[in-house]
Amino acid sequence: MMNAEAHARIAHLRTEIARHDERYYRQAQSEITDFDYDALKKKLADLEAQFSEFALVDSPTQRVGDDRTEGFARVKHRFGMTTLDNTYDETELREFHARLVKAIGRDDLAYTVEPKIDGVAVSLTYEKGKLTRAVTRGDGEEGDDITANVRTIRGLPHALKPSDDVKDDLFAPAFPDVIEIRGEIFLREEEFRRINQLQEEAGDALYANPRNLAAGTVKQLDSRVVATRRLEIVVYGLGACEPGPAGIDQGRGDLRVVRDRTGPHGGGPSLGFHSQSTFQAQLRAWGLPVENKFWVVRGIDAVWAAIGELDTLRRGFPFATDGAVVKLDPFAQQAVVGYRGAGQAARKLSPRWACAYKFAPDRAETRINAISVQVGRTGAVTPVAELEPVLLAGTTVKRATLHNADEIARKDVRVGDTVLVEKAGEIIPAVVSVVLEKRPADSVPYVFPTECPACGSPLVREPGGVKWLCVNAACPEKVRRKIEHFASKAGLDIDGLGEEVVDLLLTRGLITTIPDLFRLKVGDLLPLKKSGEVWAGNLVNGIAERKNADLWRVIHGLGIPQVGAASAKDLARRFRSLEGLATASLNDLVQIDGFGEKTAEAVRTWFGDEVNRALVADLIGVGVAPTPPAQAAAGATLAGKTVVLTGTLPTLSREQATEMIESAGGKVSGSVSRKTHYVLAGDEAGSKLEKAKSLGVPVLDEAAFMELLGGTT
Ligand code: IVH
Repeated sequence: MMNAEAHARIAHLRTEIARHDERYYRQAQSEITDFDYDALKKKLADLEAQFSEFALVDSPTQRVGDDRTEGFARVKHRFGMTTLDNTYDETELREFHARLVKAIGRDDLAYTVEPKIDGVAVSLTYEKGKLTRAVTRGDGEEGDDITANVRTIRGLPHALKPSDDVKDDLFAPAFPDVIEIRGEIFLREEEFRRINQLQEEAGDALYANPRNLAAGTVKQLDSRVVATRRLEIVVYGLGACEPGPAGIDQGRGDLRVVRDRTGPHGGGPSLGFHSQSTFQAQLRAWGLPVENKFWVVRGIDAVWAAIGELDTLRRGFPFATDGAVVKLDPFAQQAVVGYRGAGQAARKLSPRWACAYKFAPDRAETRINAISVQVGRTGAVTPVAELEPVLLAGTTVKRATLHNADEIARKDVRVGDTVLVEKAGEIIPAVVSVVLEKRPADSVPYVFPTECPACGSPLVREPGGVKWLCVNAACPEKVRRKIEHFASKAGLDIDGLGEEVVDLLLTRGLITTIPDLFRLKVGDLLPLKKSGEVWAGNLVNGIAERKNADLWRVIHGLGIPQVGAASAKDLARRFRSLEGLATASLNDLVQIDGFGEKTAEAVRTWFGDEVNRALVADLIGVGVAPTPPAQAAAGATLAGKTVVLTGTLPTLSREQATEMIESAGGKVSGSVSRKTHYVLAGDEAGSKLEKAKSLGVPVLDEAAFMELLGGTT
């Protein structure tokens, strides 16, 4: 290869990788699989090795991605969060072992083999046994403070349990002064499906896989949203530890020992772990969730056997496991081999004592019979490959996502092509690449429609995005999806009015708009089904019954962009009627705690549209009279007041406190601002308490809170 060509390819790979990093780390929506991403990185690393004149210190091969986003406080890790090199290759794994044998001088080395969890890395700080911080990897050196979100994880103790062996020893410290514990946050597949179902009902974008959803969730600015999703965590690693763990030759300067401190027994080692396996046992003894299945083995053949066992077991694990992490067991030996890139910033280091072996994802080859495009409620048009059915990871796959027009063009996917389809933790299989050798001679490039397949109006590219949108408000497909959404669980939750029935009503011309639902008569429905009297009666009643549904449901059901269930509830509480909401000014809207300009604008714009205003008027006209949220008695202690909860209260659970606040007329908010009236703080209250103090917001403890409410209850 010529230098110029190499240079161009290197530059191209760097931009591609940077783009994927941005999507993976910051937007939590990767569009290529890990396997392909790793392959791109490997290609780049190989080229950089071959053409060293083009190697760059800030090449993506030299750094970890950066997940930091707006809206979070930044926290420096005491010890940088390093990553691991990946390999898909047994030979490379054996080379890893050979290097260690050479460095340590023996070949029966002990290793741990652990499942590599495909989630989001997090660093937890416990100070004297109390959870004080949770921080994302960030750029490896400094991450985002996600403590409030991580505290909602049910399985994570806010205080460590003293382990049995130190309980009887008055002098042994139960916990280090400060310890950074590394782990992975993930979502189970069922939970991922549940949330995606809600996303779908709400007409919001679907997450491709549990990992993306977990990453998106830990970066939610509103911890109330986080609390509704069942995040889980497993811990597996040691960051900084003060005083340092036993067995580490501190003279060699193991990077994790931040400060050497004399132990209580006259300078001896003060903590009971000296290896990865004993550390795991310690984590478990402290009551932390650890991996249930991991292996401690000697020699590389035993490592390979353990990886094989892991591969057969992993599909039964609660988390997606994309590989194995192999770690040299004794900390003392880890300290001997140390880190690659020593002397550089911690984030550029990678441990020589660990290696990640990744399993190749489940893939299958099949043919694309057709490419169809779907129109969503918001008008977004998504291309889908209609496949020759193929068995993949235990299920028959008939359709796979093609993501968007740009992706089709980038991969040059054509109808008639044989393609590789992959399912790697994703629920929706994806087309990964085209098998060019099998392309029919007469194939033609796919032309993405320029017009909506449902209504024929010209598609418009989403400003600054990759989606193509149908902007015709009367598009029958959009209308169908909107009506479905209105009737769905996320909206009015109308019994018996699912997708099929909506479709039937539309095709028979019985409805064209949402309000038409309320005009349906039993007589209209009778011709639709043989002996359908009971069905027709139930449906008409079911619809009529929901005329007085909760106001927030109606607001949510309208499908206003940016307005999810939580915002719909805020709007219902503030405006108390559709009429009130329809006439709200931008200023009224931004006053709502938790509403940014963007949401306020979206609501204004929606109600500014004549078609939407007519829809609301029609709804009111057909008798829709939603029920506003119960209002606390006039003069209730917390009427109109916003309260933020933080920390653990001595007797009340979060739910109980929320209930009490709401029934006293108050509202619970997730973040402290000038609009907050009180902060109710318990044990281990963190940054919210500090913020309250700095803004002069009154802080209540549980006793003061009870006393305050005492007047009304
Ligand atoms: S050890 C320096 N152990 O995979 C040691 N990492 O590719 C690095 N991961 O950054 C971490 N399961 O986010 C370790 N059992 C495990 C893991 C694990 C998942 C993640 C972690 C890490 C990445 C390395």
